[in-house]
Amino acid sequence: NNHEDQTVLEAYGWLTKLYHHLLRRTKDGKEAKEYLYERGFTNDTINEFKIGYSPSVKDFVVQFLEKKGIHKQIMVKAGLLKATESNDYVDRFQGRVIFPISNHLGKTIGFGGRSLTDRQEPKYLNSPESSLFRKSKLLFNFDKARSEIRKKEEVILMEGYADVIIAYQSGLKNTVASLGTSLTESHATLLRRYVDNVIICYDGDEAGINASYKALQLLRKTGCNVKVTVIPDGLDPDQYIREYGKDTFHQLVYQQSMTEMQFIMYYFRKDFRLSQEGERLRYVEKVLEHIAFLETSVERDYYLRELAEEFNLSLDSLKEDLNQRMQKSK
Ligand code: GTP
Ligand code: MN
Ligand code: MN
Ligand code: MN
Ligand code: MN
Repeated sequence: NNHEDQTVLEAYGWLTKLYHHLLRRTKDGKEAKEYLYERGFTNDTINEFKIGYSPSVKDFVVQFLEKKGIHKQIMVKAGLLKATESNDYVDRFQGRVIFPISNHLGKTIGFGGRSLTDRQEPKYLNSPESSLFRKSKLLFNFDKARSEIRKKEEVILMEGYADVIIAYQSGLKNTVASLGTSLTESHATLLRRYVDNVIICYDGDEAGINASYKALQLLRKTGCNVKVTVIPDGLDPDQYIREYGKDTFHQLVYQQSMTEMQFIMYYFRKDFRLSQEGERLRYVEKVLEHIAFLETSVERDYYLRELAEEFNLSLDSLKEDLNQRMQKSK
């Protein structure tokens, strides 16, 4: 209920401050802070995103919040504690770097906790779903990015918290991410209310490219104009920025992003051996399927010509094929 939600918000607010303080000012937080420095986070960024550290103590949160008059039962409900096998409750985020997740008003409603080593599983632990924390509707950094998204009339979509934060630090402030889940229809609808233009900038590995294709299809249904940045060498955006610098990254995003059709062609090209006639034809059919979705006949014509030329097919027969598809989908 409403009163409980209010208390949960308070608890998240207090903990955000405390975790941040522990990271910045205490010996306990030193290792976590060094981990962040190594990944290129500056102090300003750590402050702006209120990044924190949750100490490796089982009952740290209980001790702290009970003194504030918050019942254990609320902490459980807020997802701050987890049950152990012996039916005890312990801190959920022990020993993790804390990325506060805000609602669209900038209030913390959840945490993403990253392990300090890649050995510790799971790598990320998020607050569980609740009435306040609906992952399918929330976007990380939306509160900070909103004004820039409006100004630039464009949003950049990434996979991870670190990617968004490092991109933000590099000057791309219109960047958001979904929260460990893939992009949903609600996300797409939310973004559509703010912009016409979306740049998908997911990880450059195979998983990221497959996810880009899925996100592209979802976003296109809402009528967004979508572009896709494919990061070379399978890198994540934050790694690419660290490796090549922010100017090279901005160039990659703004000058080398693929249009919808360029990405579709790139995507299916990987799956078909174009040297074989049968596969070549299946590839052409697949691409036609997507050309049929394009809004203007100028665009459709442009890509039909490209296909005809590349595969030495007659433009007329491609047009006929396309028209049949478009009749069917009406
Ligand atoms: P870093 O290693 O910190 O750079 O993480 P990443 O953001 O690059 O993670 P990755 O590309 O592996 O996954 C993308 C997103 O999926 C992350 O930002 C998380 O939100 C989520 N994710 C990754 N690993 C886990 C996990 O073990 N559990 C959960 N719940 N989510 C995860
Ligand atoms: Mn991974
Ligand atoms: Mn990945
Ligand atoms: Mn990463
Ligand atoms: Mn990643």
